[in-house]
Amino acid sequence: EFEVEFARSGVTATVPAGVSILDVATAEGVFVVRSCSEGVCGTCETVVLDGEPDHRDSVLGDDDRAEGCFMPCVSRACSDRLVLDL
Ligand code: FES
Repeated sequence: EFEVEFARSGVTATVPAGVSILDVATAEGVFVVRSCSEGVCGTCETVVLDGEPDHRDSVLGDDDRAEGCFMPCVSRACSDRLVLDL
């Protein structure tokens, strides 16, 4: 598990193993537009502000990832804490 901070919403929550960041966001009242929930459509895209992302989507290219783009429906964190622009 790891901690995620939704910076714009001012909410910090724990992401347990087996639960997506997107589902945690929804449970915390942080609204994220989603469609596929499988990392393929690009709808839920956000930006990593701090922390080390563990990208698990199949839509972002290396350039997108270098710019901080992140798909919270499937991707996770390598660090203990991830800060997202949500
Ligand atoms: Fe489709 Fe996240 S909802 S990539």
